[in-house]
Amino acid sequence: MCGIIGYVGDRQAAPLLLEGLDKLQYRGYDSAGIAVRDDQKQISVVKTSGKLEVLVAKTDSGRTIRGRCGIGHTRWATHGEPSGVNSHPHVSCDGKVVVVHNGIIENYAEQKEKLKQRGFTFVSATDTEVAANMLAYYYRKNGNDPQKAIAATMLRIKGSFAFGIMFEDYPDIVFAARNDSPLVVGDANDGYLIASDTHAILAYTKKIYYLNNMELAMITRDGVSFLNIDLEPVSKVPSEIAWDSNSSDKGEYDHYMIKEIEEQPKVVQQTLERYIQNGKIDLGISQLNDSHIKGINRIYILGCGSAYHAAQIAKYQIENLTSMSVETEIASEFRYRNIRLEPSSMVIVISQSGETADTLAALRRAKESGVFSLAIVNVQGSAIAREADGVLYTCAGPEISVATTKAYSAQLAVIYLIAIQLAYVKNMISEQKYKSYIGELSELPERIRECIKCSEKIKDLAVAISGSHHAFYIGRGVDCAVAMEGSLKLKEISYIHSEAYAAGELKHGTISLIENGSVVIGIITQRRLAEKTLSNIQEVKSRGAYVIGISNNCLEQMSEVADVMVSIPSTDDFFAPSLAIIPLQLLAYYVCVAKGMDVDKPRNLAKSVTVE
Ligand code: F6R
Repeated sequence: MCGIIGYVGDRQAAPLLLEGLDKLQYRGYDSAGIAVRDDQKQISVVKTSGKLEVLVAKTDSGRTIRGRCGIGHTRWATHGEPSGVNSHPHVSCDGKVVVVHNGIIENYAEQKEKLKQRGFTFVSATDTEVAANMLAYYYRKNGNDPQKAIAATMLRIKGSFAFGIMFEDYPDIVFAARNDSPLVVGDANDGYLIASDTHAILAYTKKIYYLNNMELAMITRDGVSFLNIDLEPVSKVPSEIAWDSNSSDKGEYDHYMIKEIEEQPKVVQQTLERYIQNGKIDLGISQLNDSHIKGINRIYILGCGSAYHAAQIAKYQIENLTSMSVETEIASEFRYRNIRLEPSSMVIVISQSGETADTLAALRRAKESGVFSLAIVNVQGSAIAREADGVLYTCAGPEISVATTKAYSAQLAVIYLIAIQLAYVKNMISEQKYKSYIGELSELPERIRECIKCSEKIKDLAVAISGSHHAFYIGRGVDCAVAMEGSLKLKEISYIHSEAYAAGELKHGTISLIENGSVVIGIITQRRLAEKTLSNIQEVKSRGAYVIGISNNCLEQMSEVADVMVSIPSTDDFFAPSLAIIPLQLLAYYVCVAKGMDVDKPRNLAKSVTVE
């Protein structure tokens, strides 16, 4: 989704803004632009559709626009096609206000009509230009007071926004405001910054302030001040970000995705080490202590996309160990459900970014019911992390590739910890079993490392199936949840249509699609269900399917049925999802490479989905 950056300080703004936009590319975009104010206080706006390189070339890497104060934007089109005129920054028709925006102004049509009647004109199809003109209108109406203009505009907007704003009459100040779209303020040695996420400004500062909903910020070269919507001062303490700015570099790798796949043993280890101390799991940091656990009878787990698939794994694993009732739901559906949550329920939301609009809304919906909410989140200080009652951070570091891999694996690690701890505290597993699980967990990073070694075999396999138009992923029980994630990985980056099914479900309709050469990926890691799934694999095989088997060799006959077998190391079945997913991630990656697609930035997708 759109990315925002702003800077006021000693440096030349344009090169810094372009560098920040470069870091924001991973969020997904189709056009980009910057506005910089020179020493004569003139504001230059340069914007263009297409890749950031076009903007970089147009401004000679920022050298053609001089000035130490500016704002920049990467746009992911919502209202109006990707084009130069629809790109941000947008300027009000009187030239007084320049704006960059992330979010959606739901009542933009109504506001646009009112502004037109007042004589305002528009050149673009965007909701953001409406905001620029609203700001200009309320600026004039409030005696050229920028703060009053921003507050009045914020109060009249329905929807989500993060704004970076410059007023012609207020040189050397960048104003910022937010409601439901992410925005942070960074305190660098030579000035101040605003950005959609910390990753964009990590090279300049690790000292970050978080803006809450309906708050404003003003940054100058020498300081920052915060106001609430009534324009009363708000005091804030900055947080120190733990991430290293180098951790988001691609290094020697061709793509972020393969770098992040290979980082999985390390991030799983770091995540486990955070919560296992002296051979015991300690989740107390998230408020999920033993006495709290004893009172929980039902769990709802919510997320979107891969985070929802992680939730599915959690459902199987918690139910397997505890017999507790666990429901999972896609966050965008849960938020509109008419459901009453009993006080003994716990809601777990899973999100890498911590900013996914639907997951945030689902969390708020759960909180309205007064139940305890726990977030599994990767990005420190993100909205979901701040709003949930408790947080368990995954230690995956910055994830840049749009297709998640390492954050998903770190989420699984946290899920195992929760399941084991719930079972232990509720006396559903013995002390001995608890210890044996923790022992197995300590081996998990190494097992994942072994899985990654199958890369060469997967590369050949990927070339073989890269011409396919469809693929089917099947599995039973928790393997079905793994199949869902494997299927999403393939389709989102290689554009091959793929579907995941519970293995027993195929024969209720979908098997009619199977013909000679149809690609079917069968996953078998659960001993107690292995023979059942094998029968389903035999069913597709006998109808001509080309079967790729992913298994921990729990069933010998599997290798006789599959056309190609990819073996994963043996571990307790409970942890097998963390291993089975590795060849599926690699398969998606190498198919995408074989097809020559943009691995890290697949079409139409955004890393952080901050609109509904
Ligand atoms: C797929 C993928 C997405 C995200 C989803 C939720 O590879 O990355 O499906 O999992 O958009 O994002 P977060 O986890 O940031 O809430």
